[in-house]
Amino acid sequence: MATKIPTITLNNGAKTPSIGYGTCQALDEELEKALEKALEAGYRHIDTAYVYQNEKVIGKVLKRWINDGKLKREDIFLVTKLPHAGNRPEGVVKYLKRSLENLQVEYIDLYLIHGPYGLPDFEGDFPPKDSNGNIILDMSTDHIAIWKAMEEQVDAGLAKAIGLSNFNKSQIERILKNSRIKPSALQIELHAFLQQNELVGLCKENNILVIAHSPLGNPGVNKIAEKLGQKTDHPDILGNPTVKAIAKKHSKTEAQVLLRFSVQQGWLPIPKSVNPERIKQNLDIFGFQLDKQDVNELKSLDADITVLDYRRFKGVENHPEFPFKDRIKTKN
Ligand SMILES: NC(=O)c1ccc[n+]([C@@H]2O[C@H](COP(=O)([O-])OP(=O)(O)OC[C@H]3O[C@@H](n4cnc5c(N)ncnc54)[C@H](OP(=O)(O)O)[C@@H]3O)[C@@H](O)[C@H]2O)c1
Repeated sequence: MATKIPTITLNNGAKTPSIGYGTCQALDEELEKALEKALEAGYRHIDTAYVYQNEKVIGKVLKRWINDGKLKREDIFLVTKLPHAGNRPEGVVKYLKRSLENLQVEYIDLYLIHGPYGLPDFEGDFPPKDSNGNIILDMSTDHIAIWKAMEEQVDAGLAKAIGLSNFNKSQIERILKNSRIKPSALQIELHAFLQQNELVGLCKENNILVIAHSPLGNPGVNKIAEKLGQKTDHPDILGNPTVKAIAKKHSKTEAQVLLRFSVQQGWLPIPKSVNPERIKQNLDIFGFQLDKQDVNELKSLDADITVLDYRRFKGVENHPEFPFKDRIKTKN
């Protein structure tokens, strides 16, 4: 039986399940099978992005469920994102229409600007690089002009709600001051090691839903390194002794503790898994409660540690709108 998931109401009046299914780095047949399992388990909020190159597979599975009468379009809360390569007013409608076509739907429930810096419009692998391996940037990114184009998509009915991802506090404040339609959500990296209290506070004050990406700290990076016998400086949140002790206390897994923490903090986590057992496990977090002491211990793990390694995007910090200048890891 599918798990019944509590819902959250967004500032446009729409409802979303309080946990979603992440799909980054899941592709083709693997994702097709996994999404079947996720829908069977009860996930109804699905997170994708144009750059994940998996919208077509997601569209195919959703279409099948709708055609088979197992789902109605309105049962699904679908989130996708404007790529950095579309970060200009004319890019918004161009990429949103591509996403709608890929996903085989008439509208997106929540359309997010994937990130605040812009890339030149290009076809091909993300990110575009020059011969020295530096990322090629479009320095002319104008958030207010892009947001206006986002608002027009709500007017046109192509997006029910619009929002931001990876924007920092001052960037969000500027959008709030210069918008007709306020952002409904902010998707950011959020987990026990990176709790971003100030940013989350700003969102709460302005009725912006906070969506937690990488809620488990993307442990897959560690698993791959382990398999290859390589060392990694990727943080291991699942292996943290405090997380382990709380999991033992509640007879739950470390992942369930982190996801429950996320939900109790008022964040909407979107764990990614292609493993049938873990897909189910990650949803099974509504039958227990972390107590005050657990929550305080998890809160104390906040250390401003990111799991996203921006060194992959050499030179990205040179963009005037790069949001995390203080968070670029330096090589020792
Ligand atoms: N807006 C953005 O810029 C942005 C950035 C990053 C991510 N996201 C979104 O957020 C989603 C989640 O983030 P993420 O994929 O980076 O990281 P994550 O969800 O924190 O971690 C995913 C990894 O954890 C493993 N995993 C899943 N459940 C587990 C469990 N119960 N126990 C142990 N391991 C488990 C998965 O492996 P298996 O698949 O093998 O289970 C996968 O390797 C993405 O898929 C994407 O939709 C958005």
